[in-house]
Amino acid sequence: MGDNVIPLADLRYLAPVPVVPTDAAAPSGLLADLRGRPLRDLRISVTDRCNFRCSYCMPKEVFDRDYQFLPQSSLLSFEEITRAARLFAAHGVQKLRLTGGEPLLRKHLERLIEMLAALRTPDGVPLDLTLTTNGSLLTRKAQALANAGLQRITVSLDALDDAIFRRMNDVDFPVADVLAGIDAALAAGLRSVKVNMVVKRGTNEQEVLPMARHFRDRYGPAVTLRFIEFMDVGATNGWRMDEVLPSAELQRRIHEVFALAPLQAAQPGETAERWRYQDGRGEIGLISSVTQPFCGDCNRARLSTEGKLYLCLFASRGHDLRALLRGQGPDGHAWTDAEIAAALGLIWAQRDDRYSELRSAGTLPAGERRVEMHYIGG
Ligand code: GTP
Ligand code: 5AD
Ligand code: SF4
Ligand code: SF4
Repeated sequence: MGDNVIPLADLRYLAPVPVVPTDAAAPSGLLADLRGRPLRDLRISVTDRCNFRCSYCMPKEVFDRDYQFLPQSSLLSFEEITRAARLFAAHGVQKLRLTGGEPLLRKHLERLIEMLAALRTPDGVPLDLTLTTNGSLLTRKAQALANAGLQRITVSLDALDDAIFRRMNDVDFPVADVLAGIDAALAAGLRSVKVNMVVKRGTNEQEVLPMARHFRDRYGPAVTLRFIEFMDVGATNGWRMDEVLPSAELQRRIHEVFALAPLQAAQPGETAERWRYQDGRGEIGLISSVTQPFCGDCNRARLSTEGKLYLCLFASRGHDLRALLRGQGPDGHAWTDAEIAAALGLIWAQRDDRYSELRSAGTLPAGERRVEMHYIGG
């Protein structure tokens, strides 16, 4: 493909090229958006492909054989991702999460992990480096990921019951392989393993208690199970409020069987409300983005597979960071780190997003087509 041909799939999502200010100060790590929120967490989607077809994320009817995934040339290279992450770290980012699609489908991912593990905050501290996976390739890859410097991992798992799980991933993938992947992650020495379960009323709510029992009894504090309210991300998942099981109800159901007590948040701006089992068998998390939005201190930015920067999970527009990473300034010079950092600073300083809060208040502006989650990461 010639350099001046823009692949069709790239045109799916609108993204203006960021403005590069000429008079910006060097990054201070103290950046704040219009609501005073710092930038701490960068989620990087390394592929828009996935080997599962969860109906709430990549429904089979839409993501079928004809669906055009991004061509290889559109993807940010590992060098480009690492450069962007370094500039984000200069602005205060302390946590990097690799996502997808399914990130373990990206070839040689452990090389990227090595590169990211070498980054430091301005104070010289390594970044908190983690990854979200569906677990299907973990038995094969956990050790290489840990060796490359991955510190922790989050595995998505929506059911223990094999039939329900196969139905939810919609590619007939057996649950036993994901459970073996979780064991492999622990055996590889990943120090914190989390399991994320999206709960849909009428689909997998009967799995809540078996999941809680399995993970607390088998692993205790070594694995934290988190329950996620089914969200209206993207434009294809057919979301309905009556399929959301509110976290408050879920908490009551679990508490009746395993007594819970509230825990303090570990970090400001966290997604999950933490509860511990009173008998000491570890903790669970409740992620209630529908019934109790947590936009107030949201410090998360997202970088799509093709290098577009999104300031909210529900945004309809990104900022074309790749255009700066690959392009040239007005006099033909490649943009410098200082210039790209200045552009990032300006973008964050103008951020005002708080989608979940507006939705729950019933005051959403008439929307454009929202970005899909497999493309910017969860
Ligand atoms: P930890 O650092 O391990 O606590 O991870 P995290 O909870 O910040 O990230 P993770 O990717 O595990 O998030 C879990 C789920 O929370 C995601 O899959 C989403 O469903 C939801 N989520 C994460 N970030 C956001 C967000 O910024 N907004 C909303 N509305 N939901 C989010
Ligand atoms: N609602 C809630 N969480 C979702 N995820 C994807 N789609 C949705 C949705 N509609 C999250 C899940 C999954 C991760 C990859 O993305 O947590 O584990
Ligand atoms: Fe794939 Fe995760 Fe989306 Fe399921 S939720 S289709 S495993 S990216
Ligand atoms: Fe952050 Fe947007 Fe999620 Fe609110 S809806 S927590 S602003 S990503």
